[in-house]
Amino acid sequence: MRADPLGFLLDELEAFKEQGLYRRLRVLSAEQRAKTTVDHREVVNLSSNNYLGLTSHPRLRECAIEAVRRYGVGTGSVRPIAGTLDLHVELEQRLAEFKQTEAVVVFQSGFAANAGTVSATLGKDDVVISDELNHASIIDGCRLSRAAIKVFPHKDVDAARAILRELPASQRKLLITDGVFSMDGDLGPLPDLCTLAEEFGAIMMVDDAHASGVFGRNGRGTIDHFGVHGRVDIQVGTLSKAIGVLGGYVAGSRVLIDFLCQRARPFLFSTSHPPAVTAACIAALDVLLEEPQLIDRLWENTRFFKAGLVALGFDTGLSESPITPVIVGDGALAMQLSERLFANGVFAQGIGFPTVPRDKARVRTIVTAMHTREDLQFALDVFGGVGRELGILKPS
Ligand SMILES: Cc1ncc(COP(=O)(O)O)c(C=O)c1O
Repeated sequence: MRADPLGFLLDELEAFKEQGLYRRLRVLSAEQRAKTTVDHREVVNLSSNNYLGLTSHPRLRECAIEAVRRYGVGTGSVRPIAGTLDLHVELEQRLAEFKQTEAVVVFQSGFAANAGTVSATLGKDDVVISDELNHASIIDGCRLSRAAIKVFPHKDVDAARAILRELPASQRKLLITDGVFSMDGDLGPLPDLCTLAEEFGAIMMVDDAHASGVFGRNGRGTIDHFGVHGRVDIQVGTLSKAIGVLGGYVAGSRVLIDFLCQRARPFLFSTSHPPAVTAACIAALDVLLEEPQLIDRLWENTRFFKAGLVALGFDTGLSESPITPVIVGDGALAMQLSERLFANGVFAQGIGFPTVPRDKARVRTIVTAMHTREDLQFALDVFGGVGRELGILKPS
């Protein structure tokens, strides 16, 4: 019998387990809501990106069902062959209006939008200047492009400037940052980076995955929040988080969007969004415009919960968004904290190396507009009890 040529994977999996890096999937058997059923247990859910509760909003649900009735369940083709429905065109027009840009192209995910855009736009002679905490999809896009990658320390505009100063003026370069950083919940220094990009003639790109639906007027994102419209050449957003459905998009000039439709590989070579997804995304835009109170509630809950964690004595880092990390340092301790929270009815995932630095392991919390005060107070009480039990907090 031949030896299993994939046997080495088992060794790697064992190593993950020994290092405490093996991730077991938790399974939801109910809607993605503030309180839900995870691994057969009723818990307060602090792990989802469903910021506004749109995953189960009645209007999105109805529009999705109606689209299935009218168009069926799939598109049967990639966009450039026969997979462009009038729904896709409508969604892109609506998003462009919303983001105040000339045009938008929608991708199957935010990951595909970032990776597909960077790899299509740049080539091996170009340079990317990238924040060290930028999302994995940006990093993969940079690698696929074969451009040189120069990383600057988190949010360090002076360090980015020093890199840019060394590059020839004729060099094509892309300056790229997340709008909201997904593990720390802090914001990219957009105004200063835009100024830098203008000074050195760099393309300015922002991944606004965690900002869409959360920051700016009606959730238009960090470009709107900071008032830097017209200064960001490439805006990426996701439809998978606050928008509650699935997908990503790029907003920018008509030339950029036309080019991506010719060259971005996920757009060219992967089947387009099903009708239900596309119709639900259009409905989500209506909700953002007509129910801004959802965003107000998200921020009220964010302020309440963050203040509660700080009052308990936790280290919540530099978060400025509904993503609030509870930083404990040691990886094993973060996993233990997450386990004990879960056993007591609170679902908040532990995050360790390599997603965050080795000494910055944490439990990441995300509140939503759907949480009630009782849900959040319950979670705070559990955090307090478990924090003291594990010696993270001083005994009361
Ligand atoms: C900063 C950031 N960019 C992009 C993505 C990818 O978005 P999507 O889940 O739509 O693929 C994520 C999601 O994890 C993210 O956190």
